[in-house]
Amino acid sequence: MLNFALVGCGRIAKRHSELLGMGQVRGARLVAVCDLDESKARKIAEQFRVPHYRDMHEMMETESVDVIVVLTESGRHVNHVIELARHGKHIVVEKPMALTLDDADRMIRACDAARIKLFVVKQNRFNVPVVKLRDALESGRFGKLVMGTVRVRWCRRQDYYDQDDWRGTWALDGGVLTNQASHHVDLLEWMMGDVESVFAFSRTALVEIETEDTAVVVLRFSSGALGVIEATTAARPKDLEGSISILGEGGAVEIGGFAVNELKVWKFAQSQDDDDDVLERYSVNPPNVYGYGHQAYYDHVVDCILNDRKQLVDGLEGRRSLELINAIYESIETGRVVSLRFKPKYCRLGLGNT
Ligand SMILES: NC(=O)c1ccc[n+]([C@@H]2O[C@H](COP(=O)([O-])OP(=O)(O)OC[C@H]3O[C@@H](n4cnc5c(N)ncnc54)[C@H](O)[C@@H]3O)[C@@H](O)[C@H]2O)c1
Repeated sequence: MLNFALVGCGRIAKRHSELLGMGQVRGARLVAVCDLDESKARKIAEQFRVPHYRDMHEMMETESVDVIVVLTESGRHVNHVIELARHGKHIVVEKPMALTLDDADRMIRACDAARIKLFVVKQNRFNVPVVKLRDALESGRFGKLVMGTVRVRWCRRQDYYDQDDWRGTWALDGGVLTNQASHHVDLLEWMMGDVESVFAFSRTALVEIETEDTAVVVLRFSSGALGVIEATTAARPKDLEGSISILGEGGAVEIGGFAVNELKVWKFAQSQDDDDDVLERYSVNPPNVYGYGHQAYYDHVVDCILNDRKQLVDGLEGRRSLELINAIYESIETGRVVSLRFKPKYCRLGLGNT
């Protein structure tokens, strides 16, 4: 049994604490929680009958912890992960792992030096239809890839951004691309492979925040395939869609629903036996936009630690989609096509985070 402790008891901690605290992940249990805001930590602690702390180091020194889960504001992940690495326990960090590439590099180095595994939460990779799509891709059913597209059409009103100071800021959050759509950017790159160049436009359409609530991005992949990212939190009056489409010479797949959970299209030139009932068997409707992936994600974390397997999204893999997001912002700031690999010069993400 691995002992998990949470650092940060805000919105997403509800999901993590329910899974770990209610015994929904085999081989894992919640042993302690921590938040600078004691009332938030106490609420979760009382629900799952575990001790709570305000100081993460005091928690680590007092409790017997095997895995630390960092659920703090995105721009603070860097300091928390680096400081926690010295305790020598594996670390799970929510997405995005960091905001700047330098921060991501420092986190990777700190975890390598401490000989611990760093896991970046990308739970959508574990959605049932996404796993099915990945299988089809790996078995070569698409043949030559033609185009990959993702769409995030969610609804976040001003009150969502106003609930905490960090939301919608360059220093600690980023906009729709960094926060809500970071999963979809990750999925697109995971399916389509390395990106060669990007061009993007963004705007802040319906709320007052520093960063963008709406963006469109065109991409050219190293394979020659093309891609499109369409991302907004200005869909009204409610969340509409979180989806991905992959088109290749051998077939086409589209996964939709509002959390990339519903297989909408599954068509291949060379059919296989189970193709007919794939649409029904590989779709699940989750109750919210987080989807069901966190549970499968934690099963994966436990498996990697107990059986010393490689994480699907380690620090380097988490850095990969962060590099793409930085490149997109660089294009937005400069009005130019940005080629990867590159060093950001004008991208504002993470600036002012001291
Ligand atoms: N995977 C997903 O689908 C998903 C969904 C939502 C949020 N997230 C990510 O989770 C992270 C947290 O988001 P949230 O909405 O829960 O934010 P939040 O503001 O609700 O919670 C963050 C908490 O961290 C606490 N904190 C900050 N510094 C701390 C410290 N040193 N010690 C202890 N606690 C500290 C804050 O007091 C706050 O309560 C973000 O990076 C976000 O992008 C991921």
